[in-house]
Amino acid sequence: MSKPRVFSGVQPTGNLHLGNYLGAIRNWVKLQHDHECIYCVVDLHAITVWQDPADLTRAIREVAASLIAAGIDPTTSILFNQSKVSAHAETAWIFNCVARMGWLNRMTQFKEKAGKDRENASVGLFAYPNLMAADILAYKATHVPVGEDQKQHLELARDIAQKFNHDFGVEHFPAPDPLILGEATRVMSLRDGTKKMSKSDPSDQSRINLTDSPDDIEQKIRRAKTDPLPLPETVEEVAARPEAANLMTIYAALADESLADVVAAFAGKQFSDFKRALTERAVSVLSPITGEMRRLVADPGYVDGVLRQGGERAAAIAAPILAETKRIVGF
Ligand code: ADP
Ligand code: NA
Repeated sequence: MSKPRVFSGVQPTGNLHLGNYLGAIRNWVKLQHDHECIYCVVDLHAITVWQDPADLTRAIREVAASLIAAGIDPTTSILFNQSKVSAHAETAWIFNCVARMGWLNRMTQFKEKAGKDRENASVGLFAYPNLMAADILAYKATHVPVGEDQKQHLELARDIAQKFNHDFGVEHFPAPDPLILGEATRVMSLRDGTKKMSKSDPSDQSRINLTDSPDDIEQKIRRAKTDPLPLPETVEEVAARPEAANLMTIYAALADESLADVVAAFAGKQFSDFKRALTERAVSVLSPITGEMRRLVADPGYVDGVLRQGGERAAAIAAPILAETKRIVGF
């Protein structure tokens, strides 16, 4: 029996952060053993908003280095950057003609990212979910480990697969399933606990990056916004206090404990005590990754070689699927 095929991607729009790590990459690492994993630095997605070319080139390497440092093994998993494999863009164009405007109009991420100035957003930002569907379906991947924030896009990928099959009367694309390992972790900004921690928000100085030193981490956790009360005593109370909920969820994920365990351990304590414990956890998980990433970034030839070979392996899987997709469409 062949292993189930997994696809997932991360944007090279800046440093990876704690949300990327706890919500996605940590799970990618675990999946490598019993899945066929295709992990992609999605540079085509990145340019849906302006990217300085030199910064983009550097970010592609840095994100790839971070993934390797975090435990993605490029000899087992396929690791590459999206623009190396033209099947993504070719399949996306076909999906632009399958997906309906109404479907995309409902996507909350576009509304968030475009903000008030919709007229000035790129067409690519609007069509982003079609490209994401193409990323997955170009490999007929069946399992997609995505964070909470990407669930609506994955639902759209399922709709596109089904509509394509229905329109052409074929059973070509499988409807991909979300793969959620353990408690889904959605890390919110340490600034207020209500917006997600995201590298696409350059103004957020509170974000914990995988490149941060222990001192940076300590300072960011110390400054994280909290309410004036001591720590909650029940899980129900946590839900009503977004800043506390966020920090405690982060602690639970870093320590591999349930939220209930964390509540029990810190009930009624002061945030200053809790933040010290959280800093210790964060530093012990992130520091080894940061060190290894620095070492890899100093060796761009190695990272470029990984991406080139990964691209060749990915293209070999995508080629026969794209040929069949085109034949079905009538090309
Ligand atoms: P960003 O929003 O920071 O630009 P990406 O869009 O590149 O991140 O997402 C890469 C992966 O990280 C996706 O699987 C996404 O679901 C996950 N992810 C991003 N931000 C968070 C967050 N704050 N909490 C949990 N997972 C996240
Ligand atoms: Na995102």
